[in-house]
Amino acid sequence: MSYTEQMENAVSAFRALLKEQLDRTEKMKNAAPAVDYAKKEHIRIGICGGDGIGPIIVREAQRVLSFLLQEEIEKGRIELFEIEGLTIENRLEKKEPVPSDVLAAIKTCDVLLKGPTTTPKGGTMESANVALRRELDLYANVRPVVVAEEGIDWIFYRENTEGEYVLGSRGIEIEGALAMDFKVTTDLGTRRIARAAFEYAKNNGKKNVAIVTKANIMKKTDGNFTAICHEVAKEYPDITAEDWYIDIMAANLVNPAIRSRFEVFVLPNLYGDIITDEAAQIQGGVGTAGSANVGDAYAMFEAVHGSAPRMIEEGIGEYANPSSILKAVEMLLRHIALADKADKLASAMQICGETEKKVVVTGDKNGATCKEYADYVMETLQKIS
Ligand code: IPM
Ligand code: MG
Repeated sequence: MSYTEQMENAVSAFRALLKEQLDRTEKMKNAAPAVDYAKKEHIRIGICGGDGIGPIIVREAQRVLSFLLQEEIEKGRIELFEIEGLTIENRLEKKEPVPSDVLAAIKTCDVLLKGPTTTPKGGTMESANVALRRELDLYANVRPVVVAEEGIDWIFYRENTEGEYVLGSRGIEIEGALAMDFKVTTDLGTRRIARAAFEYAKNNGKKNVAIVTKANIMKKTDGNFTAICHEVAKEYPDITAEDWYIDIMAANLVNPAIRSRFEVFVLPNLYGDIITDEAAQIQGGVGTAGSANVGDAYAMFEAVHGSAPRMIEEGIGEYANPSSILKAVEMLLRHIALADKADKLASAMQICGETEKKVVVTGDKNGATCKEYADYVMETLQKIS
C-alpha cells in the first residue's frame, strides 16, 4: 500500500478511536456509586489462578483466605468461587485476552483474587490484566509500600484504565516508515483517580499528595492530569498537593535523605506502573508488594509481580514467594470491610516476614516452599487469634 493510502486508513482508524474514547467518558458520567460492603448481605470472591507460578501462589492464598473467613463462609455470607480458564493456553486458543465465558463468570463476583497472567510480547493479544481493568472499570491501582524502620509509608494511586494503556494495542503504523501509539487522559477519568487519592489521604490522616507527571513534555495529557488533580485538591484544604516530574521522583525514591517524607502519590498509568516496581524493590522486591485494582462496581486483587515462567521451566515453581499475593489478600479483606481480619493477616505477615523469619522463601530450592510459608502464616494466625 502507498503511504497516501496508509495515511487515509490511519486517519479513519484515528477517528474511530476518538469516537470510542468519547463514548467511554459518556459512560463514566452514568457510573453507579461504589458498593458499600459493610452493608452487603452476600459477597462472592472469585479466585483465578492465572499462569506460571499463579496457580501455586493463588492456591496458598486461597487456603489462607478460607482459614480467615471460615465463619463467614460457613454462614454463607461469603462465598469463594473458583474460576477456570484464565490461562495463556485458553486465551490464545480463544483469541481473546479474557475469554468471554471467563469474563461472564468474573462479572458474577464482587471481588476477584487473581494470579499473574502471561502477556505475550508483540503480536496483537492484549494483556489479560489490562483487559480486566478496562472491562470491570477498575480505575484505581492502589499499591502500598512500607519500610517501617525507615519511616516509609507510601501509597500509590495509579490511574489504571487510560493513559498509555487504553489504546496500547491499537497504535498506527505506516509500514517501513513510522509508528504511533496514543495516550489518552479524560477529564472524568482523572477526576475520579484524583478523588480516590485525596479521599484516602483525608481518611488516613495524610497531609501530602504528590502529583507525578511529565507535564513539561506531555503537555496535553499530563498537563490536564495535573490541572484536574489541583482542582480536586481545592476541596481538601488540609492536604498539600505538590507537583513532581516522574524523572526526579524516580531519583527521590532512592534518596534516603528525603524519601520518607512522601505519603500519597497520584499518577498516570505508565509512570505508576514503572515507579511502583521501583518502590516495591525498595521494600524488598516486587515479590513483596500487593496490588489492588479498584472500581466502583468491582475490585481485583493481585500480586505486583508476573507469572515467572522461568521458575516453572526450571521446575522450581513450588518455591515461589506468596508474600505479594498475601498482601493482596490483606487488601481484599480491607476492601470488603473486614478490617479486623486484614489487620490480623498484616500482623502475621509482619511476624513471618520481618521479625521472626522462621521460614524463609528464596524463590529457589535452598529456601522454603510456597506451601511451607503459607503453613507458617496460618500457624502464626492461630497463635495471635
Ligand atoms: C502491573 C503489570 C501490568 C501492567 C502488566 C502485566 C500488563 O506490570 O500490574 O504493574 O503493566 O500494568
Ligand atoms: Mg508493572
